[in-house]
Amino acid sequence: MDRTTSTIPLSTNPINGDGRLKIALQKSGRLSEMSVGLLEKAGISLTKSRDQLFCRAHNFPLDVFLVRDDDIPAFLVTDVCQVGIMGQNVLWEKQALFTEKYTTLEEVIALGFGHCRLSIAAPTSFTYNSVESLNGKTIATSYSGLLATYLRDRGVEADIVTMEGAVEVAPRTHLADLICDLVSTGNTLTSNGLQEQEVILQSQAILVKNSNLNEDIQVIYEKLLSRIRAVLRADNSRYIMLNSPIAALDSIKAVLPGSASPTVMPLQGREDMVAVHAVCEEEVFWTTMEELQRNGANSILVVPIEKMLD
Ligand code: PRP
Ligand code: ZN
Repeated sequence: MDRTTSTIPLSTNPINGDGRLKIALQKSGRLSEMSVGLLEKAGISLTKSRDQLFCRAHNFPLDVFLVRDDDIPAFLVTDVCQVGIMGQNVLWEKQALFTEKYTTLEEVIALGFGHCRLSIAAPTSFTYNSVESLNGKTIATSYSGLLATYLRDRGVEADIVTMEGAVEVAPRTHLADLICDLVSTGNTLTSNGLQEQEVILQSQAILVKNSNLNEDIQVIYEKLLSRIRAVLRADNSRYIMLNSPIAALDSIKAVLPGSASPTVMPLQGREDMVAVHAVCEEEVFWTTMEELQRNGANSILVVPIEKMLD
């Protein structure tokens, strides 16, 4: 896109640029805040002026390009950026539309936010029985590649109308009989009198990389990836502390969720009790805490973990 590429400081080295890793993030929309937030949690501090296309990290060799989500794959294949955060829906749509062009893009890791699904929805007045009901109909979408594949795999013949946005108004304006669009809360569908009928795919935010990284950039990329992995692990983990009767230690260890080897320490002045500390790599529910209590544990404390590195 001319608007977005014109101010890019292009480097002289054609492969991977000036020794700084470049990451493309969504400028505004579903993923943008969480994407910037993930970098911040990874200890990377950015000058935050969202109206700018480009910002530099002060304390990490990383430059950030804030662009339209649909443009991120193009920034990666042209090596303007080497990594990006995008919805799986965006990557898969590009790969469905252009089978040759995006083969160097690798999905590295799912980031656990930006969950949504691509679905076919019909007006509530439409009699929908199965995908067969789509035969001979017109479907409006911004995801013609994925929709065409879905219909072809099921032997359905339908017309696809490609729209850039506001797909949900297509049935009302008689542009199409149905739509195929992203659904997150479902509010857009409901407020436009539409009902979800088929889920084509589930999507979430992913880290994507270009496979052609030079050695220096690869080192920076691996450092970034290791920090991102650490943030995701810490986000999904809890630190649990409790006091346990020595006699009940085995049963209490068995109840602790997702923790391999808890630390067991003596409690001063108590011959019969020990303190147990453990990192639980999954959520600790109230029901789990109650079960620990039933097994004899007391003073149970569950705290979030800010950082974690092996
Ligand atoms: C999607 C989709 C709907 C809305 C659905 O657009 O096109 O408009 O989100 O979300 P809901 O179920 O929570 O109401 P998005 O904001 O992703 O913009 P984009 O299609 O331009 O990327
Ligand atoms: Zn978009």
